[in-house]
Amino acid sequence: MQSPRTSYRTQRFPESLIREMTRVALQVGAINLSQGYPDFSPPQAIKDAAVKAIEDDWNQYSVTWGLRPLREAIAEHYRRHYEMDVDPDKNIVVCCGATESMLAAMLGVVNPGDEVILFEPYYESYLPNCHITQSIPRFVALRPPVEGQQCGLAEPGQWWFDPDELRNAFNERTKAIIVNSPHNPTGKVFNEAELRLIAELCQRFDVIAITDEIYEFITYDGARHIPLATLPGMADRTITISGMSKTFSVTGWRLGYAIATEDLMTATRKAHDFMSVCAATPLQVAAITMLTMGDEYYAQLRAEYRERRDFALEMLREVGFKPVVPRGAYYIMADFSELSDEDDVRFAMRLAKEIGVACVPGSPFFSRPELARSVVRFAFCKKMETLAMARERLQRLRR
Ligand SMILES: Cc1ncc(COP(=O)(O)O)c(C=O)c1O
Repeated sequence: MQSPRTSYRTQRFPESLIREMTRVALQVGAINLSQGYPDFSPPQAIKDAAVKAIEDDWNQYSVTWGLRPLREAIAEHYRRHYEMDVDPDKNIVVCCGATESMLAAMLGVVNPGDEVILFEPYYESYLPNCHITQSIPRFVALRPPVEGQQCGLAEPGQWWFDPDELRNAFNERTKAIIVNSPHNPTGKVFNEAELRLIAELCQRFDVIAITDEIYEFITYDGARHIPLATLPGMADRTITISGMSKTFSVTGWRLGYAIATEDLMTATRKAHDFMSVCAATPLQVAAITMLTMGDEYYAQLRAEYRERRDFALEMLREVGFKPVVPRGAYYIMADFSELSDEDDVRFAMRLAKEIGVACVPGSPFFSRPELARSVVRFAFCKKMETLAMARERLQRLRR
């Protein structure tokens, strides 16, 4: 029984199972391929910039919207990569990660009782965000590829959704749709045709799109990330969210931001202001250094992740998992039904405790546990030597 002293809102969701798996990994000494954070360092120049910012006394609250030079750098970054026209004074708020940006955006635009469309599986925090905003999630299934078939609007071999299922999810109660691309946990990168359909439906039903583009620079096999806000008619109905965590390997710095047209931004900024006031000021100063990194930085990031992805896929296939090849982000969803009859949670716990490799059970990414019964998610944002150690340990599954 939950205590009546706690709110209905928080009673509706559990603590994060992803973070729980990190605690289990630490407890039992497992290699942590669960939570999505690198075990390697960010570039030295970024660390130096943070140390210098503290020494230079950037130690007090910043303007709640984010330091102006950082907002200018973000605006320039969007011009450079996507030819987006973003006003640093009107269209940007810097928050404590994409996580806070998403909640601030939802608190800014969603009313209790509104419907919010989520593609399922979904990143774990979106459902608690619905509960906190007292909105109603409407799920649209992302389905694994069917061998040799082209499904929906996706290319063969890709996770796909049924366009009619998406059309049917929109109605007059729909307030927002969350579009996470590249997608966690599947690694799907939504293509232009899929995004165009989403854009058309948002405009037909007067719906706001809230995007989570935190993996925008981690793509493979020629997949191209397209910000939904760049499609015709979407600039004034999209809240674009991204951040520094994944692109610059600084997940612990808690730096992200939202970009939107003025009215949506004003609402998002107010929610952010009263949740956290501002993101850590010296780290905001260092983030300016991140955004001035040249094209070679992004090329190297992609190449290194590609090598890790290919290694991790091989590591999983050789012991009997059936992984789906991701085209973006740094996770692999893998079916384990040939290895065990256990459910996803039991299997993941045994893998951590007996084999010494921690992954995440599928269930935190689905609204009903039966949808995730024999899938787990592996994060491969790790040093090659860490992955090699995991490969060695996973060999024990064969015996
Ligand atoms: C889809 C997605 N969004 C947001 C986050 C968290 O981002 P941040 O560290 O900027 O809060 C993650 C982290 O795993 C993620 O996978």
